[in-house]
Amino acid sequence: MVNVAILGYGTVGSGVYDVITRNNSHIGRRAGKDINVKYVLDLREFPGDPAEKILVHDFDTILNDDDVDIVVEVMGGVEPAHTFVKNALLRGKSVCTSNKEMVAKFGAELLEIAKEKNSNFVFEASVGGGIPIIRSINESLTVDHFDEISGILNGTTNYILTKMDKEGLAFDAVLKDAQDKGYAERNPEADIEGYDACRKIAILASLCYEKQVDFEDIYTEGITKISSEDFAYARKLGYSIKLLGTARKIDGKVYAMVAPFMLDEENPLHSVSGVFNAIKMHGDMLGNVMLYGKGAGKHATASAVVSDVIDCARNLGHNKIVYWSPEKRTLGDIDTFTTKFFVRVKGVVEKTALEEHFGGVTLVSGIENETAFITEEISEAAYKKAAENFDVINKIRISK
Ligand code: HSE
Repeated sequence: MVNVAILGYGTVGSGVYDVITRNNSHIGRRAGKDINVKYVLDLREFPGDPAEKILVHDFDTILNDDDVDIVVEVMGGVEPAHTFVKNALLRGKSVCTSNKEMVAKFGAELLEIAKEKNSNFVFEASVGGGIPIIRSINESLTVDHFDEISGILNGTTNYILTKMDKEGLAFDAVLKDAQDKGYAERNPEADIEGYDACRKIAILASLCYEKQVDFEDIYTEGITKISSEDFAYARKLGYSIKLLGTARKIDGKVYAMVAPFMLDEENPLHSVSGVFNAIKMHGDMLGNVMLYGKGAGKHATASAVVSDVIDCARNLGHNKIVYWSPEKRTLGDIDTFTTKFFVRVKGVVEKTALEEHFGGVTLVSGIENETAFITEEISEAAYKKAAENFDVINKIRISK
């Protein structure tokens, strides 16, 4: 029998308890051992809840119990989650977590401790909810050099952008609707400003490119400036607008960014709608590969966490190799990164005046008293310099 302790009994924690309880014999068969939830840690009381009898309020009860083999951390936030996880690993327990903030910041450190202690630190649910992207990178996509990993990594913003597109609504109205339906937090900043996607692409880039990518170094732009007019242009051009986290390796340098992009119909991410996430990668042997599924939600996320529990139960006393060196990777200068830009400027501007600054452009007709156009592939620095000469309403990068 393998004993599990769940830290945090919120949406994901109660989902993990529910999944382990409901699918217990199936999970035990897959793990090769019975899985038992011995403790649930939370500061709150849950009278009448099935987990009430195993509820504890002090982490030391779990830490000091040598019968606990696997700790599931689903509290969120960096502290005290990091301290709890570190101490559990130092005591030789394996840890599964969905906590992207903690993994992005301390993933390399925690993996090193697990290696020293012959245990495992696993974090499938930290990126892409129920999508098995982490295990795919670590265990399946192990042959190729990947020159790109890009994805729709945030369900909340994808829900908002999809609704703006399909219903022609303004950002604020859709955000309010998403909050009312529970798809967006009351404080939506981490999602709509791209911070959540930033941590997720930092984790994916660290794993894909094997060295620590600090999320603070990643250029991040959210979706708050995207308007229904932008969608009207995008529809006319056959594009969708998606918040992408992207990391590319070009001539040995890694460039990473989170920003809204216009995607043409050929792009496999073009039609990923609603709260769904998808991640596509391009390898030198495999070519393109894409994973698609629910990026958030109680049971989808819990399913990924419990798949990690099974993995840890199968590998007790055996550390699985994960390449993520704590050595910092210096990212390529984003100013040198090149892309095409869709740009809207105020007023009626002659093409020649635009081309004087931006180089070749293609005009896009649309709204009165403004000029919309698409540039050739130019660098971020060249765009910024050219844009200083105009009253820019908005600009959106076009995905390659
Ligand atoms: N707020 C996140 C999202 C939850 O919308 O994708 C899953 O990480």
